[in-house]
Order: sequence, then C-alpha cells, then structure tokens
Amino acid sequence: MKLGVCYYPEQWDESLWASDARRMAEMGLSTVRIAEFAWGLIEPRQGHFDWAWLDRAIDALAAAGLQVVLGTPTAAPPHWLVDAHPEILAVDAAGRTKGFGSRRHYCFSSDVFFAASERVVAAMAERYGAHPAVIAWQTDNEYGCHDTVVSYSPNALARFRQWLAANYANIGELNTAWGNVFWSMDYDRFEDVGLPVAMPAPPNPSHLLAFRRFVSDEVLRYNRMQVEILRRLAPGRDVLHNFMGFFSEFEHHEMGRDLDIATWDNYPLGHLEGTRIASEAERAAHRRTGHPDIAAFHHDLYRGVAGGRWWVMEQQAGPVNWAPWNALPAPGMVRAWTWEAFAHGAELVSYFRWRQLPYAQEQLHSGLNTPDNMLDAGGHEATTVARELQDVPVEATTRAAVALLVDYTGKWAIDALPNSPDFDVQALQLAWYGALRRLGLDVDIVPASGDFTGYALVVAPTLAVVDAGLAGRLQRCGAHLVFGPRSGSRTSEMHIAAGLPPGALRSLLPGLRVVAVEGLRPGVSFPLEAVGAGFPGAASAQVTRWRDVLDVPATLGVEARYADGHAAIVRHGNTRYVSGWLDATGLDALMRQAAAEAGVPAEPLPDGLRLRRRGKLQFAIHYGDAPVRVPAPANARFVVGGPVLDTAGVAAWWVDDSRTA
Ligand code: GAL
Repeated sequence: MKLGVCYYPEQWDESLWASDARRMAEMGLSTVRIAEFAWGLIEPRQGHFDWAWLDRAIDALAAAGLQVVLGTPTAAPPHWLVDAHPEILAVDAAGRTKGFGSRRHYCFSSDVFFAASERVVAAMAERYGAHPAVIAWQTDNEYGCHDTVVSYSPNALARFRQWLAANYANIGELNTAWGNVFWSMDYDRFEDVGLPVAMPAPPNPSHLLAFRRFVSDEVLRYNRMQVEILRRLAPGRDVLHNFMGFFSEFEHHEMGRDLDIATWDNYPLGHLEGTRIASEAERAAHRRTGHPDIAAFHHDLYRGVAGGRWWVMEQQAGPVNWAPWNALPAPGMVRAWTWEAFAHGAELVSYFRWRQLPYAQEQLHSGLNTPDNMLDAGGHEATTVARELQDVPVEATTRAAVALLVDYTGKWAIDALPNSPDFDVQALQLAWYGALRRLGLDVDIVPASGDFTGYALVVAPTLAVVDAGLAGRLQRCGAHLVFGPRSGSRTSEMHIAAGLPPGALRSLLPGLRVVAVEGLRPGVSFPLEAVGAGFPGAASAQVTRWRDVLDVPATLGVEARYADGHAAIVRHGNTRYVSGWLDATGLDALMRQAAAEAGVPAEPLPDGLRLRRRGKLQFAIHYGDAPVRVPAPANARFVVGGPVLDTAGVAAWWVDDSRTA
C-alpha cells in the first residue's frame, strides 16, 4: 500500500525540482507519474528529440529515492504534427474537425497518427526502458476523456468498412444481420456503408452496435501497439492505463488483458456533480464527501479489469475544476478516499496533482500544494495517511461472496435503442451495487466473460445480450442469481431475442416471456404487492422508469405483483427475474433476502457507513453526517481509528485476532 503523486516538472521552474522531490519523499510518497502530456517538449520538431530536460527531471526524482511512472505522451499531439497532417484530427457528430489548442484531438483511426505514436513511444522507451528509477509505464492518458473515442472522420469511415469486411462473410450476410430490408437500407458492397451519424431518423441499431464494437476495437488496437513497443523496449516494467469513472465506450476487460495493472482516476466530487447518475438529493447531501458507493463501485470494477492488480492513478486531493459546481472536500475526506481504495485492494494511490498551477486550463484545480507552494489541506491529509500506513500490514484481497455482472456490449445495446431517456445502465448498476453495499456486503464486479464459480450470489442489474454459453455458465456456477429488467432481451446483432426475452436465460427461467415493455415517464410508478411469503419487503417497494410485462407459466413462482396483476418478480429455483427498475426500498429488501438464501450474512448498516474487508482486516469508511458505531466486536483490535466514526471517519480492525502476531 503505497502513495504517489502526479507531477509535471515541465510546468515549473527547474530550480524547484530537487526540493519538490525531497518534499515528496519526506511526506512518504514513493511513486511519481510524469510526462504524459509532454510530447511537444520531448519531440519539438518531427524526429528531433530533446531528452535533456526529462533526463534531469527523472534524475531529480530518483535522487530523492522516488520511483517513476512514465506516461507515453500521445494524449497531447504537438502542433507540428497537426499542421503537417491535419487528417489526424478527430471529427465530431456535427462534422466539425476538432482543432488544436487543448488535448486528445486525435482520431484513433488515423494511420499517420498511429505511426507518429509508434515513433514517439519507441523513442521514449528506448531512452528510459532500462532506467532503474522507471518502474512502470502508463499508455496515453484516459482514453476517451472529453468524449474522444468516437470520431466521424474519413479515416474512421475507411477503417469501419474494413472492419465490417473482416467481421461479416459478405455484404449479404451484413444486410441480413442488420435487417436492412427495413426501409430499403440494403447495401451492395461494404464500401457503400456509412457511419451511423447525421441521418434524418435514428440509424439502424444493428449498424450502431457494430460501430460501437468497431470503435472499441480501434482503441484496443491503438493501446496494444503501445503495449507491444513497451514490452519490447522496457522489459520487466509494469504497463498500465488510467481508466475513467462512468466510462464505457470501449471494452475495458479486453484492454485489461493487455495490461499488468488497471488504474483509474478517482474524483469523488467531480463524479458526483459531473454526471447524471446520482439524484439531486444525493448530490446535495454528499457534495463534500462524494457518493458513498461511486468510488467503491469503480474500485471493485477496476480490481477485476487486469486480473486483480489495480491502482488509483489520480486521486482527487482538493476541489476539481471540471464539474458544474466544485466543492471543497469535507475535512478528512481525502484521507478517507485514500483508505477506501486500500480497503478495496489498491496497491497504490497517487494524488492529482503535486501543486496547483497558476495558469492554463486547470488553474482552478487544486493539488497537494497551493500555487505558492504551501502544503494544502489534501497535502496534510496525504501526510497523515503516509504515517498511518506504517502501522497497517498489507493483507491480500480475497474473492467476495457476491458478484455483480457488467457487460459493455450489453450497455451499448441498450444505448443503441434506449426506449426511454431514463434507462441509464450505469445508474441501474450503481443502484443494485448500493443495495448490496448498504447491507455491508463485499462485491466483486465481474464481466459477462468472467468466471462466476465460487460466488454464492450473482446479480445482473441488466444484461441485455446473453447467449447460450453465458446462460450455461451462469447455471453451472451454482450461485443464487438475480437478473434485472431487459436481461436477455437482445441478440448480439441487436434483434429481439428469439422466442422473446429473456431469450437464452429461459434455460434458467423456463417458459418466461417478456411480452411487452414500458418506458415510464417521470412521476409514473408501480407499487409492488407481495405474493405469499417469497419476498417480505415487496409491499413497500415500487418500480419507476421501466417495466417489462411478463407472461409467467404456472411452473414459475411469483414473489411480487403490480396492482394491475402483472408479475413484478418471478423465481425458479435459485434464479430470480426482476421486471422493473426497482427503487432502493425494494432493492434493499430483495438483496437482503437473496443474500440470506445464499448463506451470505448481511445486516443493514447505519446511514452513510460502508465496510470492506481486506484479508483479515475489516475497514469502515463513513460518508454520513451523524456519528455512527462500526459493527466491530467489543474486544476488536483497531489498527486505524476506533469504534465510533464521524463524517470522513476511517476504522480498520482485525477480524481474526490470531493473525495479528
Ligand atoms: C483527468 C486527467 C488529468 C486532469 C484531471 C483533472 O481526467 O487525466 O490530466 O485533467 O482529470 O481532474
């Protein structure tokens, strides 16, 4: 469990470098990420490299005993490259070319950009691949930040057609797979197919889904190019990428297979205010703490992306500059966010950034130090964590009893044909995750391609695309299963599942058919009524936003109904299907019931308190505003904090005292 920081030596006078490095080391930081936006300084003119400044910067850090993570600088292509090859620029949905003057202005499908990236990554890796202080490499920076995965450029069009030709046997097969007979959309050749943009009516959802897959493959291909160069020229060094929060425009688990470590950038206040995921009430209540489940959700997601090793590459250390409103974190919250990451298994938490910069786009973004170089509140809290870490042993993270299933293709499928502006897949995932977490449960987030064996309870908030193989694996894993609305609703080519939804999931829910669906406008809700004793909490729950209308054979159990008689929750053996967007009351009751049946102890936690076990250590983090008592035994031995937590409080105690020796 180590601490690090993101640092930009090129933005500061060189006279500061040595004292910055010394102060970082004195604070207890061990790792410094640099250079991910420095392409223009590394290669000021094509083929002319200036390593002198970067040599000195790395040496200054190394001299203080710090380890370096080098970012490949491709997120900031320099102006000479753009001027010579404007065709590397990305194009937005309105057909406008995105210009130079910020960052991430490139198109993943440009061969010229691909080649220029190969050259600069190789040159950098040749220079520093064997440097003893450089322990890891970050590819690019936040693929997709500022909405930059999709590009409607001529390059993207050309490569999309090649991708189609590689993925369909012939154009007739594509026409059939997409159902192009509808509205006379048949093509004669792959070269006739356009990008799914700028049409009077929405594009064919099959066309859209194919494009999303193509776009994801383009990002994976680009990253793989960088990884291969780094493997060759920087052997023995970890390769990682810094993923984002609430971002799903490429297949993260597939990219993770190419990486050693998955890292992500954790901005709890930015993610709360900057996305539509949390309700207005939640945003107001947690404006200084962040949402109790958003950071944890991503920790659990990214722990599963590269086989278990994960870091927080950028940790919010004070106010950010990019949400509509940017609050100061509650006192102690930077420390709490850091401990929460360690509780979920992080190897390293790296703060963004060392010092607030008094110029350019991010001058209102805080750092560990103020622009005049005084240690800021976040810097003090990072120092505290560094001190506390010395007394806390590193315990291994073990598999949780509960898995939450996510699937990128399934999300793209729903986004391609949402049928309601309110069916936000990530919001639904977070709602289900939150219900499990309010019960004190540890959760692994597992992709549909993952391994479910060993879990007692597997929940899928929604899983649109399910084939027979996936259904079979779910059945064989033996866990209690809970599926949410729209599960099994689409084929991989974006048709309604054969025999009606839930399609292949019918092997688990024999005879069940979704005969109609309803997107529910705001204000419309369907209260649930309990049927028998199957689901005691049902009577106070309701469904909003969405409901599947079910045709239920007599062989399936019905645990809850709507007032109009339609089934709300059905069950066969250990498998449940939830037909609507269940509210928090309903989810809490349902998850408690499912956990109990699966033999997983679950007790509702006090408001705002969250738990996470790491080996024999039980951690507790408090996001609420009233003091709470943690569920520790009276004789618990605490290694952090104590039995009562205030807002931003952290505690950790031994679960099994025999291991404390
Ligand atoms: C991240 C990005 C950083 C910085 C930061 C500010 O998205 O990777 O370079 O811009 O946000 O919060």
